[in-house]
Amino acid sequence: MVHNIATAAQMQALGERLGAVLFVGAVVLVNGGLGAGKTTFAQGVARGLGVTGLVTSPTFALVNEYPEARVAFRHADVYRLGHPDELISAGIAERIGADGAWLVEWAERFGAAWPDGRLEVRIEGAGQGRRVCFVATDARHQALLRTLA
Ligand SMILES: Nc1ncnc2c1ncn2[C@@H]1O[C@H](COP(=O)(O)OP(=O)(O)O)[C@@H](O)[C@H]1O
Ligand SMILES: [Mg+2]
Repeated sequence: MVHNIATAAQMQALGERLGAVLFVGAVVLVNGGLGAGKTTFAQGVARGLGVTGLVTSPTFALVNEYPEARVAFRHADVYRLGHPDELISAGIAERIGADGAWLVEWAERFGAAWPDGRLEVRIEGAGQGRRVCFVATDARHQALLRTLA
């Protein structure tokens, strides 16, 4: 499924619609280059999950956690990780897919590391416009896409 997104506000609105329907165990893998809008999308997801505070990039923290959300939200950015083993030491590998709802920026850096059931999000485009492509790999995540259609 492809969405054409004209502005950052529209990107947040798309994320918000997804966040409103995320479930415990949801895995959202977001790919796209620097400045594509991954964090902008994640900010909307957080809002859709009921997070009211500031949502900033986890580039340095690796994982920002919002336990107050409707479903506990875990927002990761693995750009700075060098080796898949660091997903274990960062506490990501054993929790993703089970504990709360996860969104991972730069997931493609560790393509083999993620749970089989997930929603893949790819953001493309420069300047203002973006194309956002969604692929779901199991029934639970496909159901998310039906609500975005
Ligand atoms: N259509 C759009 N969708 C998303 N972001 C956009 C769009 N147009 C402009 N932007 C801007 O691009 C930047 C994206 O930054 P960010 O979300 O941090 O990207 P990433 O996390 O992918 O590196 C923001 O400054 C945002 O305002
Ligand atoms: Mg980012």
